[in-house]
Amino acid sequence: MRLFIAIELPETVKQALAGLRTAVPGARWVPTDQIHLTLAFLGEVDEAALERLSGELARILLPGFQLGFGAVGCFPDRRRPRVLWVGLEPDPRLKHLAAYVREAVLACGIPQEERPFSPHITLARLKLSASREADSFLDQRQKEKLPPFPVQEFTLFQSRLTPQGAVHIPLRSFALATAAAGAKQC
Ligand code: 2AM
Repeated sequence: MRLFIAIELPETVKQALAGLRTAVPGARWVPTDQIHLTLAFLGEVDEAALERLSGELARILLPGFQLGFGAVGCFPDRRRPRVLWVGLEPDPRLKHLAAYVREAVLACGIPQEERPFSPHITLARLKLSASREADSFLDQRQKEKLPPFPVQEFTLFQSRLTPQGAVHIPLRSFALATAAAGAKQC
């Protein structure tokens, strides 16, 4: 199973992010219902490891928090934009959450990239390099003010690749709470 762990966004936030789209040739905008904040990408994982992984993730005991947005940006750089994203306000609680998730994944023997967590929400992937149009998106959306949103849980997703694109299936959500965090079947 191809897995990743992400923060689901409230419906209103997904709609607000979808509203940032501008005309960028060759852009494949992430479908509104699929917009998410990735905490960890696991890739192909043996189904047998799923229970262990769920157990490790359920042991994460952190409080929920409010998360604010930052500026828009692109990967890898403005000369060759391939991914358009919106950033998050630097927040130690988000960093902690990603670090705990990473530890849980590593504890299950699932390798993780060495590069540091760079919090962002992917809005579009560009097939061809449309740097001028991407520049226009980045300039137009630089001053956008999006309201903060509550982070109360994180979710283990399966990503099924289909000819129509990836389908994201929530498998289990893990509540963020001070006392009793646990897994709930989606
Ligand atoms: P992103 O948030 O940077 O776009 C599900 O595929 C999620 O896993 C994507 O949203 C993507 O993160 C993330 N991801 C990280 N590395 C990936 C990879 N090598 N292949 C596919 N998705 C990856």
